Amino acid sequence: MANVVVIGAQWGDEGKGKIVDWLSARADVVVRFQGGHNAGHTLVVGNQVYKLSLLPSGVVRGTLSVIGNGVVFDPWHFRDEVERLSGQGVKLMPEVLQVAENAPLILPFHGDLDALREDASGAGKIGTTRRGIGPAYEDKVGRRALRVCDLADLEGAAPQIDRLLAHHNALRAGFGVEPIDRDRLLRDLAEIAPSVLPFVAPVWQTLATKRRQRARILFEGAQGVLLDVDHGTYPFVTSSNVVAGQASAGSGMGPGAINYVLGIVKAYTTRVGSGPFPTELDDEIGQRLGERGREFGTVTGRKRRCGWFDATLVKQSIALSGVDGIALTKLDVLDGFDELLVCTGYELDGKALDHFPASARQQAAIRPVYERFEGWSESTQGARSWADLPAAAIKYIRRIEELIDCPVALVSTSPERDDTILVRDPFRD
Ligand code: GDP
Ligand code: IMO
Ligand code: MG
Repeated sequence: MANVVVIGAQWGDEGKGKIVDWLSARADVVVRFQGGHNAGHTLVVGNQVYKLSLLPSGVVRGTLSVIGNGVVFDPWHFRDEVERLSGQGVKLMPEVLQVAENAPLILPFHGDLDALREDASGAGKIGTTRRGIGPAYEDKVGRRALRVCDLADLEGAAPQIDRLLAHHNALRAGFGVEPIDRDRLLRDLAEIAPSVLPFVAPVWQTLATKRRQRARILFEGAQGVLLDVDHGTYPFVTSSNVVAGQASAGSGMGPGAINYVLGIVKAYTTRVGSGPFPTELDDEIGQRLGERGREFGTVTGRKRRCGWFDATLVKQSIALSGVDGIALTKLDVLDGFDELLVCTGYELDGKALDHFPASARQQAAIRPVYERFEGWSESTQGARSWADLPAAAIKYIRRIEELIDCPVALVSTSPERDDTILVRDPFRD
């Protein structure tokens, strides 16, 4: 048996969706275990483009797809995404899509609060997706959240709804915003419930059965390790654990179910939203990376910040998530650069530093130390075998493997599903 966890090893948007879609041909189940519809995963299959935020990327191939308890679940977004995919010919029945009954709900006032806080933060704003992710996770750990199972019994959930609204109405009053209309909320929840309930299941049980049957389970991470609430560039992070260890708690499977961790790594670096980014390029090279890589957010349409590959950060992410192998994506975006730089360490107050520090002040103050590489003029776009790559590109990849202390399992050379070089199959027993 080989179960695989896929995680982003940078600041998200590494190409997880493409790789999960590609791997899901070999998987029996695909599971989301954290995050919510802040994720934006783009899949390209022939002339069809699929954009997924909440649904696991396995749905496009019809692989059994599970939204685990670690996800924060917006029922209205769920209905809209299911309908949008249905319009693209992906029919989603409860036989192929299950939602954990104990996943916390994202409600409309979570988005309100997310936006109110961002607008009040001025220069200190996080640059969230404004989709209510942080407030919904706060209510979960505050033990006042409504959960997916409550949609089946709104009357029984009345005391919990009262607790939740009392908390939010106090916050809203602080912002000078009107209180939540309880009757309207209940009407809206009653109206959306039938769109969700057919998919709801004790997914831990489905997964336990699949595990006994020795099915291949693929866990699909959202965001990236540097956005992890513990290990990322705090406070400029998302509100969930993103590291591979979360696959277990966020799905209800024991850690022994994880056999291989695949880190998705972009051949350069991007970030959307605020926060430190040591190798960021504010010049025409950064501009060129953004244009060649089409670096615009799937969820918010925001321009992504771009910079050189940071081997020190990726090495740290790999250690934090126990990554066994990486998928190196968007290699083709580097075609045609005369020279490529890779960060191999930092300098802080004149001293060398071999890791990314935890202190926000130090994170903002460090300076990258670079190693320089000769670029390549040939095209790698669409390459499907090692032999299709120019020598300079192979040298770049080999040196990255050394610097991050982890082997390359896959290389991706275009958005298209099959433009992928397989070096080692993560599902190999
Ligand atoms: P995710 O959030 O990690 O799933 O990544 P996104 O989908 O947000 O962003 C990655 C973008 O790069 C998407 O538009 C993909 O279609 C595209 N992409 C993925 N792999 C490659 C690749 O190897 N080369 C190029 N040029 N684009 C890629
Ligand atoms: P995928 O799965 C890139 C960023 C936001 C912001 C911070 C907090 O597509 O890689 P949030 O709305 O989560 O409270 O925002 O996290 N962020 C992402 N950046 N890719 C993502 O997902 C992201 N999800 C959240 O831009 O900086
Ligand atoms: Mg994305």
